[in-house]
Amino acid sequence: MTVLGIETSCDETAAAVLSRDDKTGQLTLLSSAVASSLTLHAQTGGIIPEIAAREQVKYILPVITKALEEGVGFSLPNAPKGAIPPIDAIAVTYGPGLIGSLLVGVETAKTLALLWNKPLIPVNHLYGHVYANLLTTKNQQPTTLKFPAVALVVSGGHTDLILMQSHEDITVIGGTRDDAAGEAFDKIGRLLNLPYPAGPIISRLAEKGNPKAFDLPRPMLGSHDFDFSFSGLKTAVLNLNKKQGWNFTDEQFAKENQQLLSDICASVQAAIIDVLVRKTLKAVKHYQANSLLIGGGVAANEKLAKTFSEKAQEQDISTHIFIPERSLCTDNAAMIAAASFFTDPVAWEEVTANPELYF
Ligand code: KG4
Ligand code: ZN
Repeated sequence: MTVLGIETSCDETAAAVLSRDDKTGQLTLLSSAVASSLTLHAQTGGIIPEIAAREQVKYILPVITKALEEGVGFSLPNAPKGAIPPIDAIAVTYGPGLIGSLLVGVETAKTLALLWNKPLIPVNHLYGHVYANLLTTKNQQPTTLKFPAVALVVSGGHTDLILMQSHEDITVIGGTRDDAAGEAFDKIGRLLNLPYPAGPIISRLAEKGNPKAFDLPRPMLGSHDFDFSFSGLKTAVLNLNKKQGWNFTDEQFAKENQQLLSDICASVQAAIIDVLVRKTLKAVKHYQANSLLIGGGVAANEKLAKTFSEKAQEQDISTHIFIPERSLCTDNAAMIAAASFFTDPVAWEEVTANPELYF
């Protein structure tokens, strides 16, 4: 079975073709195309939804064309009238995300499904990040997921802990009460005059810094639930910034204080990772999870991966920890196609009749 996946929930426009071996269940990625309007958002220091949506309109057809051409050798612009690509279904992200961006992918997928007479599979973006772990690519070996499993989705918009008893029995057991982990990286980065998105830059600068230089708060670390909160950390850095009289918007100051910047970045990263790792491992222990699946843009952080395996070892946790290859951590359509194999196709009448369930 071969699926065309479409993802347009934020500032990436993506399409991918994925095939499943009906005997082994192995999910092999045949193509993955991603266009990003990130450089535009870097100029404004964050995403402006209206601009992101307009960019989706620009990229959606070129991206689908590329994915079909590379994945199944079907040329959309040159195909004879009425030709249908050799795919069995179309999967599309229905939410959560920016509504204007989502609508571009959803409407395109609906149109193609109608035109080609293919089933349509609406996929939850968060489950996409989780199922990115089950893809087989050049850099990612086939894997088997053992239940119960705990998943941590950490991105610019989400910090969620999910319990999976089976592919059908999935519950969110915790989430952020305010800012997401990626959002904390990005907002603190803005304070330090770092370009958007700041997560990857903070992690690079942190390599040369001292993670103990500043004693930053670890919000909700001791709480008896599986929730997170990161806005207090942002406020703590803001207050420290004021108290110490730092001014990274001043070129001269920034130039003369590179070590200080690295130390702040290392301390911020350590605080975020500490909370993510400790809370997640607490959930792993509590539910006696056999697998831990991590996904989302922040999962691309190497220090996070390293800390997870170190702390698991320290705590004698032998749970298998999955983290996707870097390009599958950030938004892509391969993960949406992957998740679609575990999601029932839904008639669009059902989606339009119950929009509150899907948007
Ligand atoms: O999953 P994603 O591409 O988009 C959302 O669904 O939000 O995640 C983007 C987020 C941004 O906040 C970005 O700063 C963060 O992931 N990020 C990182 C790293 N790479 C991306 N955060 C920390 N370390 C990284 N290496
Ligand atoms: Zn995402």
